[in-house]
Amino acid sequence: MTRILVVDDEEQFPRLVRALLDDTYVVDVAIGAEQALHRLDQTVYDAVITDLHMPPGVDGIELLKHARARDVDAPFLVLTGRATVETAVQAMREGAYDYLRKPVTRDELAAAVERAVAHGRMEREVGRLRREVSSAVGDRPVGESGAMRRVMALAERVASSEASVLILGESGTGKELLARTIHRLSTRSGGPFVAFDCSALAPSLVESELFGHERGAFTGAQRARRGLFREASAGTLFLDEIGDVAPEVQNKLLRVLQEREIKPVGGDSFVKIDVRVLAATNKDLAKLIAQGRFREDLYYRLAVVPVELPPLRDRTEDLPVLVANILGRRRSAGPRPTRIAADALARLATYRWPGNIRELENVIERAAILSDGQSIRARDLPPLGSDGGGAPAGDGAIELKPLKELIAEATGRIERAAIVEALRQEAGSPSRAAKRLGISRSSLYNKLTAHGIAV
Ligand SMILES: Nc1ncnc2c1ncn2[C@@H]1O[C@H](COP(=O)(O)OP(=O)(O)OP(=O)(O)O)[C@@H](O)[C@H]1O
Ligand SMILES: [Mg+2]
Repeated sequence: MTRILVVDDEEQFPRLVRALLDDTYVVDVAIGAEQALHRLDQTVYDAVITDLHMPPGVDGIELLKHARARDVDAPFLVLTGRATVETAVQAMREGAYDYLRKPVTRDELAAAVERAVAHGRMEREVGRLRREVSSAVGDRPVGESGAMRRVMALAERVASSEASVLILGESGTGKELLARTIHRLSTRSGGPFVAFDCSALAPSLVESELFGHERGAFTGAQRARRGLFREASAGTLFLDEIGDVAPEVQNKLLRVLQEREIKPVGGDSFVKIDVRVLAATNKDLAKLIAQGRFREDLYYRLAVVPVELPPLRDRTEDLPVLVANILGRRRSAGPRPTRIAADALARLATYRWPGNIRELENVIERAAILSDGQSIRARDLPPLGSDGGGAPAGDGAIELKPLKELIAEATGRIERAAIVEALRQEAGSPSRAAKRLGISRSSLYNKLTAHGIAV
């Protein structure tokens, strides 16, 4: 059902339009701009026809501006009696789709409305496709583990809301990638994604970077700066390493998030902001709050929806798809393997991955160079610290703790890797995997739960 709104300061013309277009469209009438805005707030129209001259009060161009400020995107047709080309041009410049000169014929009117309606439809369709394409071509986190599926399902659900999302996870788990994905899936995807590392600058600089500053606000401030909150307008601001924000900046951030307005450094007035905030940290915020180093109220503002990215060692089921994804993304010259051998995969599954997926990327990149160009074999992998014990990456040193603990940890890892591998080889069948491992089915189920492995 196509709905159009006709606006004039008297009833005669709208009535005429309604009579002319009644059999094709649903025609609503508003007398005066105020009534028109009221209707536009309540109903979505496919086109608006408005008279340009509507004394007293608001004229057609003003109505158009007010409507756009309220996010009304229906195409506007402006109608003018004393058709000076200038006013029509001005109306078009303000975003009117077309103008009509009085007196109009039925055919002119019908054709203009039809064009406007089709144009509006196309714009909406283009917007929708653009959102779809950008979410399809962009890199997205991959993962088949239950944990990653839950994270992605949650991300998709919160993306379309305006809620602040706090992304938690160890270094290299994909926090920034997830933030970009949430932005891309959101209605703000047409706007900018601005990332800021809160740990990189001294507190005073963080403030002027985020909130902007007036010219001469401090030594060296030769030019005014808009600040990232305004740069990210209509888009998303990603506050990375939020756990490292100094107390004075925390106070200001809290105010900004509550009031949704900022005051540039050295300025004396507030500016409204239109930003969705995402934040991330690898710090234990609960601990920082307990120590009085992070404001609890700021935490609740940022963590309207908290999302936790599990470390890679807790989702070794994701290794095959991650490796495939990393191999597929490689652009470098030289050997370009496309597969990984089972024994190589099994070795990756026993490692602790303190650097998570970023570290996995490095390991795979190195192994690809050493590979035969077909598949990555176990011997192409660098020595991974914890193949046997609880050692950190690379240097082969063992972190000393009671031997009992070390052995328990190592056994746990080997057990986990063996289960993952058995399930892989048996195409996910628990009965056959249990048989291969020489344990009962129920004992396998217990171990699956203990290791957090989803089947
Ligand atoms: N689920 C995933 N699928 C594919 N690639 C991933 C995934 N998670 C992370 N990556 C890749 O791993 C690398 C590290 O990710 P990212 O920079 O988002 O991590 P981070 O958590 O922000 O790390 P840090 O805490 O060190 O800043 C990136 O190259 C990213 O593309
Ligand atoms: Mg990061």
